[in-house]
Amino acid sequence: AVIYRADYQPPPFWIDTVELCFDLDPAKTRVLNRMKLRRNPDVPQQPLKLDGDELNLARVMVNGQGTSFRMEGSRLVLENLPEGYEPFELEIFTTCSPAKNTKLMGLYVSNDSFFTQCEAEGFRRITYFLDRPDVMASYTVTLRADKQKYPVLLSNGNLVDHGDLDEGRHYARWVDPFRKPCYLFALVAGQLVAREQKIATRNGKEHLLQVYVRPGDLDKTEHAMNSLMASVAWDEARFGLALDLERFMIVATSDFNMGAMENKGLNIFNTKYVLANQATATDTDFSNIESVVGHEYFHNWTGNRITCRDWFQLSLKEGLTVFRDQEFSQDLAGEASARAVKRIEDVRVLRTAQFPEDAGPMAHPVRPDQYLEINNFYTVTIYEKGAEVVRMMQTLVGREGFARGMTLYFQRHDGQAVTCEDFAQAIADANPQSRLHELLPQFKRWYSQAGTPRVKAGAHWDAVTGQYELSLSQSCPPSPGQPAKEPFVIPIAWGLIGPDGREVASGMHVLTQASETLTIPGAPAGAVPSLLRGFSAPVILDFDYTDEQLLALLEHDTDPFNRWEAGQRLAVNRALAAIHGSGEIVLDNAFIGAMRSILRHRTLDAAFKELVLTLPAETYIAEQLDVVDPQRVHAVRESMREQMATALQDDWAWAYEHHKDNGAYRPDPVSSGRRALAGLALTHLCIAARSSGDGVWPGKAYQRFKDASNMTDRFNALSALVVSGQDLARSALDKFHCMFKDEPLVLDKWFSLQAGAPDRGGNILPAVRQLMQHPDFNIRNPNRARSLIFSYCSANPGAFHRADAAGYVFWSDRVMELDAINPQVASRLARALDRWRKLAEPMRGAAREAIARVAGKPDLSNDVREVVTRALAD
Ligand code: ARG
Ligand code: ZN
Repeated sequence: AVIYRADYQPPPFWIDTVELCFDLDPAKTRVLNRMKLRRNPDVPQQPLKLDGDELNLARVMVNGQGTSFRMEGSRLVLENLPEGYEPFELEIFTTCSPAKNTKLMGLYVSNDSFFTQCEAEGFRRITYFLDRPDVMASYTVTLRADKQKYPVLLSNGNLVDHGDLDEGRHYARWVDPFRKPCYLFALVAGQLVAREQKIATRNGKEHLLQVYVRPGDLDKTEHAMNSLMASVAWDEARFGLALDLERFMIVATSDFNMGAMENKGLNIFNTKYVLANQATATDTDFSNIESVVGHEYFHNWTGNRITCRDWFQLSLKEGLTVFRDQEFSQDLAGEASARAVKRIEDVRVLRTAQFPEDAGPMAHPVRPDQYLEINNFYTVTIYEKGAEVVRMMQTLVGREGFARGMTLYFQRHDGQAVTCEDFAQAIADANPQSRLHELLPQFKRWYSQAGTPRVKAGAHWDAVTGQYELSLSQSCPPSPGQPAKEPFVIPIAWGLIGPDGREVASGMHVLTQASETLTIPGAPAGAVPSLLRGFSAPVILDFDYTDEQLLALLEHDTDPFNRWEAGQRLAVNRALAAIHGSGEIVLDNAFIGAMRSILRHRTLDAAFKELVLTLPAETYIAEQLDVVDPQRVHAVRESMREQMATALQDDWAWAYEHHKDNGAYRPDPVSSGRRALAGLALTHLCIAARSSGDGVWPGKAYQRFKDASNMTDRFNALSALVVSGQDLARSALDKFHCMFKDEPLVLDKWFSLQAGAPDRGGNILPAVRQLMQHPDFNIRNPNRARSLIFSYCSANPGAFHRADAAGYVFWSDRVMELDAINPQVASRLARALDRWRKLAEPMRGAAREAIARVAGKPDLSNDVREVVTRALAD
């Protein structure tokens, strides 16, 4: 049944303490749950209804006595509880089957170890409980298991007791000193080893940091540990938030639905976001690990110390924590140019993933009003757009004002379960003189209204007065359930670049009306506006730039974000002209010349050059169109890339030679930027070689592939061969598999590269089908399923959207197959056809049919059903 935000009611009971006792066994784990409850005096008296899912109930006792109960669906209902408000004891004994848990929610087994995932509603798969985030309890957890098979027994908080039991078993008892909602509960049991680090925080307290992995993986934990130490130091330095635990643990598992989970004191991570060394992980992996380790650590305050009142408030913790991890990575990157690179990368994610979501059938506000399945709302809107909303608050109150706001937020709400409104109120109240305080009710529309606002800007210069007038108007298209929108508060950072390339004025305009005019005095003739600098708001900016203006911004803008943006606009304009026109495209000298001067620039960073020289993604180009033929978009982008490859061949060769080797491997922004640019150059050189039939560069790429001293260079060389369709690609792929057959995360790259390769005559789908038969393929492992199936269906539009509909048939088969195994993974895959309405025929009709085929399956999970129903709704 659909759940509505407006229906929120406080819980009828509070749970003060929980004592859990586990007898761990893969086939049948026994769970004894002893709780102290009391009635909530603020709520009318009513029965206790406890959530449960796939549990076997053995016994229920109240205050030590047997009691009557009944089932209401999967809920356990107790009606004959003691009257009054005195605490009483409830004891529930259940069993569950972790080995059969393929959904990876609740307690499950992965590689012979036990793990849990409780957010959002997995705790009910472990025991009957009030599985909602506003019920916060103190936990004591006893784990019992075979000592040889499960030597390490972990849960939240502090280890208070451990020892041996009969029959080769042992036990450990953990006490969490902090009250928490049950979604933050965790346990781990298995054969694990830990990298350890003792640290002291500013107040002089000692803490133990641990990163637990499987025995062979210890040599891949250094970066995660460094990232964790940096996170602890950063949160204390930037926000005064110190580590509040004696022991902070990270555990890696290779079977995990998402990236990682912030369980109090016991974070559980997908191995993808922990394990790295230079031989197996790329620069991107290293930087993702830094972000995700930071993200989960920062949740300890924003999420755990202050949590969500209900799941509609998810962005309270996720938007804020993404903002914090983005700021963390920027601060670690150091220099302004490296910060800008990180900002551009973050905006690229927002625009290629969140903007389409906001314009499609799953569009929802940052604080949704309804859901069928909460797991479907761990989205780029809640996370990334939510982070942009927090960022705009910081923009409106300033960096120090924002830190003051955070302090007030913790003064007011530490230990509570609160709402998005509470957060915004605290930031505003700490800054009573700010525009945020003044505009707060209107600003909060960012939480309630879905859709990406459009800002249309127009310029007029008065030659007599020298006044430059910018007209700004905003609108927002309808989204499901929201036909009309009220104006947003849109901070627009701007600058004006004079004809000599120098900045003549700059400022911040806060747009609040449907339309406004901004007047800038004393502007020279021929000035060019630089608008929405640093991407100061998550909007689409329309301004009719001429090529000359964009070229000027690309050359002179002091704002690196808009400098990059000017290059992207030049490229998008050319792509759109070709798509709307004959489909043929000949890149003009002005564009090629501009790209050349960026590539050859004396002072720009390699990382920045790589971003400018990378063409906008096919999905981003597709978003600019009303009707999309993905194969045409792909063909046009490929053709642009080929022309850039050929026209700039000497420049690419120069770039490759000057950036390829930089000594000992370090994953810092400067050297990873050099590797990225060298990789991009090599790809273009191999593409140019394919057109000319020359074998020199493919040969060099193959040599590089074999000799590389790190995974970034090796994988970039392999990818250059695969992407450019060289004959050498096959033998390189085979060799790569052979070298890394025992490294699951590297095999994921191997699958993903093949499934994501450019389509040549429809060759990718058969290749994907064949890879599904590969002995290393396993659809039950989410990382592996994503690396093959998602890389094809969600990340390779040119190959997936086939006129013969075979891609869609494959998609619907996999959605249904996965749904029976793991609904969360299936539902993510189901979203690959979100934007089907924009497709050109015959794809549109075929896609609709494929979705209807899935929707027609009788026993679908809520997860998939919600996605396909919304996709078909009109
Ligand atoms: N809170 C986690 C994070 O963002 C994500 C957990 C999502 N889990 C899920 N089953 N939907 O760090
Ligand atoms: Zn999070």
